[in-house]
Amino acid sequence: MVAFAAALCTAPVLSLSAQDHNSKTQHHPWDNKSLSPDERADMVVKEMTLDEKIQLVHGAGWGVLRAGDPVDPHSNFAASYVPGIERLGIPGIDLADSAVGARMAAYQSRYATLLPSTLGAAASWDPEGAQLYGDVIGRELRAWGTNMSIGGGVDLMREPRNGRNFEYAGEDPLLAGTMTGNLMKGLQAEHVMGDIKHYAFNDQETGRDIGNAIIGHRAARESDLLAFQIAIAISDPAGVMCSYNRVNGDYACENDWLLNQVLKKDFHFKGWVLSDWGGTHSAAKAALAGLDQEMPEDIYFGEPLKQAVQKGEVPMLRLDDMDHRILRSMFATGVIDFSPYPRSVVDPFKGRDDAQHIAEESIVLLKNANNLLPLNASSIHSIALIGSHADVGVLSGGGSAQVDAPGGNAIDPHTGSAHWGETVYFPSSPLRYIREHAPNAKVEFNAGDDKSAAAAFAKSAEVAIVFVHQPMHEGMDAKTLSLPDNQDALVSAVAEANPHTIVVLETGGPVSMPWAENVQGIFAAWYPGIGGAQALANLLFGDVNPSGKLPATFAKRDEDLPHPVIAGMDLKPLPLEVETNMGGHRIRHNEMRLPAFDVNYTEGAKIGYKWYEAQHIQPLFWFGFGLSYTTYEYSNLKVEDHGREVTLTVKNTGSRAGAEIAEVYAELPAAANENYKRLVAFDRIPLAPGESKTVTMKIDPTLLSIYKEAKNGDEAKDGWDLLPGEYKFVAGPSSSTTPLTATLHIGK
Ligand code: BGC
Repeated sequence: MVAFAAALCTAPVLSLSAQDHNSKTQHHPWDNKSLSPDERADMVVKEMTLDEKIQLVHGAGWGVLRAGDPVDPHSNFAASYVPGIERLGIPGIDLADSAVGARMAAYQSRYATLLPSTLGAAASWDPEGAQLYGDVIGRELRAWGTNMSIGGGVDLMREPRNGRNFEYAGEDPLLAGTMTGNLMKGLQAEHVMGDIKHYAFNDQETGRDIGNAIIGHRAARESDLLAFQIAIAISDPAGVMCSYNRVNGDYACENDWLLNQVLKKDFHFKGWVLSDWGGTHSAAKAALAGLDQEMPEDIYFGEPLKQAVQKGEVPMLRLDDMDHRILRSMFATGVIDFSPYPRSVVDPFKGRDDAQHIAEESIVLLKNANNLLPLNASSIHSIALIGSHADVGVLSGGGSAQVDAPGGNAIDPHTGSAHWGETVYFPSSPLRYIREHAPNAKVEFNAGDDKSAAAAFAKSAEVAIVFVHQPMHEGMDAKTLSLPDNQDALVSAVAEANPHTIVVLETGGPVSMPWAENVQGIFAAWYPGIGGAQALANLLFGDVNPSGKLPATFAKRDEDLPHPVIAGMDLKPLPLEVETNMGGHRIRHNEMRLPAFDVNYTEGAKIGYKWYEAQHIQPLFWFGFGLSYTTYEYSNLKVEDHGREVTLTVKNTGSRAGAEIAEVYAELPAAANENYKRLVAFDRIPLAPGESKTVTMKIDPTLLSIYKEAKNGDEAKDGWDLLPGEYKFVAGPSSSTTPLTATLHIGK
């Protein structure tokens, strides 16, 4: 078993303290907390009837997600509900979308904190910040009385135009797995169950329910699956959500290799596998392949599964295992012991402060020509703010990760809960907070709709700040890396009019920047959350020193990507008959879907920086890159303990306090046949001016190993192999700048 959990996290463990005043008195033998979650679950399963066993392995409907589908009166108005078993003291499971904050608040006039996108948070490279992120979601769901979050996206960024990249954690398995695992750890410490999704290879939205990802086992294990493995080892999540797509021929939710072999056997995943909403395609096949729960309905795991068990097609032991996995996760996270949760009012102030803190660590300074930044509040006279509704708000991501904006959409305040795909701005006004920082300057706003007018407006100001946007949401990908709405032309026109132009990107992920040479400053602000404007103003004026670094490479152009055109993008949708359960009635209707197609992952494990290195392509900004207002010096790289431990020294050589993210990469011996390096360790190091720190980082041997497929095709003999030979370690401030080098011979 991989030792990621021990090596990578410093997290507090789940604490069921005496202060948790809601603990129950003992009614059933399994209420005994000194027994393990597995023992307790086994005791419950023994008492369950067949109908009760079936009841736990499917949802009760779409809840508020689908009009016409009744909401179970016991549920909490979320994405679905699994009714509990009262006679056994088992509460229902309320599943709430909450990738970047709890969804569906408006339905019940509740409040939910919008956090920066998880991709943004990954740019902090801060596992403690990730735990705080999970804590915000966990405590708000708990206050609502909701006991399961279905966020936790960790699909790797193979496709920078994927509409859901903002819900994920970037292109590298170690960074993404560590950040998502720690997020989940923070969340579950609030006694709210978490899940990690979308397992696996749901790396594009185009044709997500029909696309067939084709990838070899070595590439799969060293890339996307490694991110899941790390996140699961760190957090022991209650659930893993299998994805809509097919993988090497089989749907992910009935894929024996993915679910039984890799997830349950190799990763030792103890929780349950739930399908993405409508992602179940069979009863016996799916159950035998490792799916434990159909979501959100009972089309396959209701009556058909019951019959399959009665006929012996699915052994009763397998159904028991499905229920055991659900129940042990409910016991392990404290959901059963502390149910029902006392309802309380979410603290919006604490949520906003936490969101701002995470945003301040997440926003990446990409360019700062002639040290234009930080702006000097006492000497600046005029600032022209342009574009993207920067007078009223900051952009959020859409789809099932959409959080409802307090007061409605900031650009259309009469709206309530956001419509699917609507572009929603949150009321965190950059104009307001920039004005607050520079009270003596004239700070004005121009909408940026007309580039000539915007350029004329910018010309008269000392500094121009252009906000650019790329709204993204589930269910669609961007066709191109180019910014939408002619914004490249807007930036170019402003930059031509004002030599002191700064661009702030509010994007779902990487975009191209044909104007990058012509502007003086660039910030990647991602979707910065409800404290976004305050965070940004603090960074612009130097109250906070930028520390974020890119969790994904920014390519110069679509042609440089492994797939210049997204697979399936050029296909035409056709009507397809699908069945749903509407309020207890099965209905068949046509939906427009793409015809089946393959997504050939020809790049294998070479995602992001690995691709650009291997192909010798210069991107616009490399993975791991980010500037600061101070300077750092690296020295003394040492690799010890057979490559399991690395030590280096970083000094703050400038005059401002800062936090430097030190990155360590390894190149494997020639026998690995890899022409790129891998991130193997990182640390975020706070440093006062002049201060120097020597830090030691652990390296899990898996990160230095290759995944070897047995020659005779016998999957049971596949496994990780730490090849003997010369390992080259390099370290520094980014994947492209690695001033330190050390080599190590690892023997057999
Ligand atoms: C998404 C999931 C989401 C579910 C419930 C699906 O369309 O892919 O991420 O959790 O809907 O809203």
